[in-house]
Parts: sequence; structure tokens; C-alpha cells
Amino acid sequence: MKPVRTLNEQARAIMRGNDQGGYTMPTHGLYPYQWNWDSAFAAFGFATFDVERAWVELETLMSGQWENGMVPHIIFHEASDGYFPGPDEWGAFQNPPTSGISQPPVAATFARAIFERAPEAGQPRMAALFPKLLAWHRWFFEHRNENGMIVVNHPWESGRDNAPDWDEAMGNVDISNVGTYTRNDTSHVDPHMRPSALDYDRFMAIVYAGRTCGWDEAEMAASGPFRVADPGMSFILLRANKDLLAMAQALGEDTAEITGWIAAQEKGVARLWNPEIGGYDAFNIRTGNFGGSMSSTSFLCWYAGLENSEALVEFGRIAEAVTYGFPSHDPASPRFEAYRYWRGPSWGIVNTLIGIGLQEMGHKAQAEKLRQDTAALIEKSGFAEYFNPCDGSPAGGDKFTWTAAIWLAWASPTLTSKGS
Ligand code: GLC
Repeated sequence: MKPVRTLNEQARAIMRGNDQGGYTMPTHGLYPYQWNWDSAFAAFGFATFDVERAWVELETLMSGQWENGMVPHIIFHEASDGYFPGPDEWGAFQNPPTSGISQPPVAATFARAIFERAPEAGQPRMAALFPKLLAWHRWFFEHRNENGMIVVNHPWESGRDNAPDWDEAMGNVDISNVGTYTRNDTSHVDPHMRPSALDYDRFMAIVYAGRTCGWDEAEMAASGPFRVADPGMSFILLRANKDLLAMAQALGEDTAEITGWIAAQEKGVARLWNPEIGGYDAFNIRTGNFGGSMSSTSFLCWYAGLENSEALVEFGRIAEAVTYGFPSHDPASPRFEAYRYWRGPSWGIVNTLIGIGLQEMGHKAQAEKLRQDTAALIEKSGFAEYFNPCDGSPAGGDKFTWTAAIWLAWASPTLTSKGS
């Protein structure tokens, strides 16, 4: 096990090494562009040692914003032929080229955190970001709001690509027109740690459906192949709206619209409670069925500022079932796979969000245990993309930006802003 100080240095070196000047790629090779929530986590990490660079990360992210307010999940700043699907497959006709979907909006939450580290210097940066964040959140309400539940039009939009949450809805995606294509991810990473071939065909079918309608939001809402309310997206946006509200107050901006969103969402997330599994669950708008999946994002209620004692009991059960909390899917489920991406592994970023929520809502013992578990994973296996929650072994890409970032900003026993 490496000393903490060395790990702090390594984490900063990874972030600098993945820094492309203005944005940070998740890792070399596997993910060579700017990803939305990866960048927001990067900003959170940079803020521990370079606040200026943290602001720049968020500013570059917002430079990809569409006219309708959406902030895309990938911005292809520079051509690189090592990645599939690239700009042509997406066919989004933006400059710089982008994908056609969004990703979990953690940016407002981290913008507020960065601002609070150095409020005076941060004031103009936050003032400039605020209208952009507001427009993005408004886009969610215009195009991803179903009765206060926030939906995703593609599993990639959730950031949890192959989670069991989507199995039922993915089963209805028609792949007859997908044709042949070559994925690149499995040449970088062991295929048993990545989504299956069938998953990938369905991912591509949904991309092609979006491209065919020119990413027309009304058409996708009415008849797109995939529309599922996501507990992760719902809780993360709810939390982000609370942070946006705090920013609006600090800036003397009007707060009525944001307050309205928060009220609608608080009602909406209650609809995601599935009594059959005793937890927050994905809900398929097309079929009216729950996904029947207890995932790590079922436990983001505290992060969104909501208490739930039943969820706390389930949280304890799942945390006990593995050595290194917190698995992305319930280990008691037959669909749990310890290595396969979002079907079991422990992800430092989700642990961070759950841990922040637990801490803020007064569940300090659980929060501290989760932080220590995440730190132990990194001490044992380095800055991997994700980890096997049973034995702690590393999985996916290595030298990963977001794992380095959450180490610095949340998991490290000596938070670097306090001097190591
Ligand atoms: C994968 C993850 C997604 C992440 C991206 C880049 O697609 O599922 O959450 O943003 O990789 O790291």
C-alpha cells in the first residue's frame, strides 16, 4: 500500500496527465474526448489544488452547450479515430462536434463547491456560468420531465450504460436496422468488464433513431425507442437545482422558476419508489413497468436532501454484503456481476455522491465507512475506472481522471486542500 502523500501526488499527476488544456479526458485511449459528468468531477478535484483550472474545466464544458440548452455528454474537441461512436455516427452537426444526448448534471453542485473555496475570485466566474446552467436545467424540464421524474432517452445519458435498470426497456429496442460496426472499447479493456454485444447493438439502434429524427426532442419524447425515468438523473438534478437556487440567491437572481422545479421534482422522485423491491427504481415510461433494480443510485436520496429510513436499512444490508462498498447493483440479485461495468462494480464517483448525501443528512458513520472503503480500494488498486466490490481488484481503464478527482476532493484521508 502506498503512503497517502504519494497517492495525493499521483492523483494530481493523473489529472495533469489527462489535461488537454481546458478540458480533461477521462483516460487516454478508451475515452479520448471531453465527457460531461467526468469533467464536472474533474473540476471538483482540480479545486483542491488549482481553483482557476477548476473553473476553466466547467467553462469548457459549457462551450459545447446546444442552442436549446442541452449540454452534451461528449464534446469531440479534436479528431481522434480511436473511439466509437464518433461524430459521424451521432450526426449532431454541432461545432465543436458533440453527441446528441446529455449526462447527469453534477456541474452546478460542483460549481457551487468551487465557488465556496474562493468566493471573491469565483464571483464573476459563477455569474457567467449561472445562466448557462439555468438553461441546461430548463432543458431537462422541457424535454426530460415526466411528471416530475427525470427520464433518459438513452442508457448512456444516465452515465450508467448497462445497468440492470434498463434491461426491460432495452429488451424492446429493435436492432434489425443496426448493421455492422466495429466497437473500439473492447480492444482497450477486457470484454467481460464491458457491456455485452447485444447491449451495444441496442445502444447503436437508439443512437441511429436519434440521428434519423435530427435529435428532435418532441419526436424522441413521443416515439423514441427508449424513455425511462432514472433515479440517478432525478436525484442528481434535484440536488443540482438546490445548488443552483443557492447560487441564484447569492447572485441576487430570480428564484421562482428553480423553486418550482424543486417542488415538482420532490413529488416526482416519490413516484420512483417501487414497493416491490423496497427502493427507488427506474420506471419505463413506454410500458409503465419498474426496472426491478436496486442500484447504487437508488441511494442518492440523501444527496438530494431527502430522508428515507427504509432506504437506510437497505443501504446497510447491501454495504454489508460486499467488502468494498458500494456496489452498483444489489449483490443479492441474480443480475449482479462483480466485474461487469454498471452491473455490480463499485464506482468511486457514485460512492462520493452517496457519501456526501449521507454526511449532510447526519448519517455520519455510514458516510465515513463508505469514504474509508473507497479510499481502501484506491490504496489497494490504484486509480482505476471502477472496482470489483468483493475483492477490490481494479477494472476498466486505469489512470482515471474521476477516480483521481474524488480521491483528492473526498476520499483521501488527508484532503489535499488541508495541506498535503
Ligand atoms: C462510460 C461511463 C460513463 C462515463 C464515460 C467516460 O460510458 O458509463 O458514465 O461518463 O464512460 O468515463
